[in-house]
Amino acid sequence: MSKPSDQPSLRWEDNAIVTLDQRALPHERRLLRLDTVDDVVTAIATLAVRGAPSIGLAGALGVALSAYAHCSPGISGGGQQAVRADARRLAAARPTAVNLAWAVDRALGRLVDGPDAVLAEATAMIDEDWAVNRQMVSHAVQAVLDRCPQRSLRLLTHCNTGRLATAAVGTALGTILALADAGKVTEVLVDETRPLLQGARLTAWELAEAGVSHRVCVDSAAAAAMSQGLVDCVLVGADRITARGDVANKIGTYALAIAAAHHGIPFIVVAPESSWDRSLVDGRDIVIEERAADEVTSYGRVRTTPRGTRAYNPAFDVTPASLITAIVSEHGVHHTSEVRA
Ligand code: MRU
Repeated sequence: MSKPSDQPSLRWEDNAIVTLDQRALPHERRLLRLDTVDDVVTAIATLAVRGAPSIGLAGALGVALSAYAHCSPGISGGGQQAVRADARRLAAARPTAVNLAWAVDRALGRLVDGPDAVLAEATAMIDEDWAVNRQMVSHAVQAVLDRCPQRSLRLLTHCNTGRLATAAVGTALGTILALADAGKVTEVLVDETRPLLQGARLTAWELAEAGVSHRVCVDSAAAAAMSQGLVDCVLVGADRITARGDVANKIGTYALAIAAAHHGIPFIVVAPESSWDRSLVDGRDIVIEERAADEVTSYGRVRTTPRGTRAYNPAFDVTPASLITAIVSEHGVHHTSEVRA
């Protein structure tokens, strides 16, 4: 697979987390050094680090930062309690992606063995992400080809689910890149993904880096593109998947799924096992992050609405399982609900 960089989107270096600042892309490739739990919480909350698997890995490394700060030899009293409090703050930095709490808990589980063990667990999770991504992408490529036997595909995706959102090649975007590498892709339509433009800024950047033909469209053009026969398959990621297969993902995903079902177009979710939350059945029980109004009432820091205008700004929505053709993880196809043509 063509992979412009083998460097994971985040890593542990000299007692800190080093990551690409996704807020600066595509204009600037700026590295961000996170030395404290506060730094990590802020980076996650402001989307400097974003995408469900990436925020989980950042959270796990954040627990290691806290463990070294509070539980190193020579530091007395209350250390473990302080780390547990930090872990709660890390897990709460964004509420919707279950990967965050999952990864923080997993790292915290090693606290009794000391800071080195916490760090080893967190870095093992980064390594695992490579294998998980590779297996998931291989199953997802097959799932797409099974449903779209035509020689060359026009794909549509939403938000960013590539190497910026994971520690490896990505989920849905990783699948698109693998299909492109196999010569199966004519063009990728990329939803710009309002309001923070993860599609326009990040997915277009990754596709350009990989040399894959793509066009960016406004989110509301997706249904029209489907009606004009410009889309053979929709591929997206997930932030949380319930036991019955309802999927929380970036706002706009639900509308895409409705449009895809209407046009008989396969709608495939690619996400790791760590995105499943089987404690929930009904997707309406997923906590949806509501973000600041100015993300909607401004564009490029310029106000676009009359002063005082309020906004409805959920960061995610829930797509019911009935609208999803397949959910693919590293273990294979979990759920199918074949769309009616
Ligand atoms: O708000 P974001 O940019 O973190 O939202 C990201 C998404 O919705 C992704 O589709 C999801 O996290 C999967 S990333 C592999």
